[in-house]
Amino acid sequence: MAPAKPLDQLTPVEQSGHAVFVQHCSTCHHDRTTDPLNGPGLAGLYKKPYLPSGAPANDERVRNTIVHGRNNMPAQGYAMTDTELNDLLQYLHTL
Ligand code: HEC
Repeated sequence: MAPAKPLDQLTPVEQSGHAVFVQHCSTCHHDRTTDPLNGPGLAGLYKKPYLPSGAPANDERVRNTIVHGRNNMPAQGYAMTDTELNDLLQYLHTL
């Protein structure tokens, strides 16, 4: 699997998404490894055909997971603006 884009090469939008990740996701997910924390590590999220649950790895499913939560993952939709959510998805594409 190709490595994640280095942090110092992120575009401004991806940097903003990284800040959202640190604030809202990093307590439960590693982003640059697949090692589990509270939830699965997210390295290579969009490079694999399926999410850890077996759902297709696409923006619709990932957005849905973030907004509505899933099992032990709490819904985060209330916690961020649409722009922050879109920036976060852009960041997840760099992993
Ligand atoms: C309180 C802990 C917690 C937080 C905060 C959290 N997650 Fe999760 N996340 C989980 C757990 C637990 C799972 C596994 C859920 C399951 O499938 O049973 C998960 C699953 C996922 C999945 C895989 C979904 C699938 O279909 O396999 C993605 C993608 C994800 N989280 C992204 C995020 C992102 C992005 C954020 C930040 C906005 C975030 N999570 C915040 C705990 C968390």
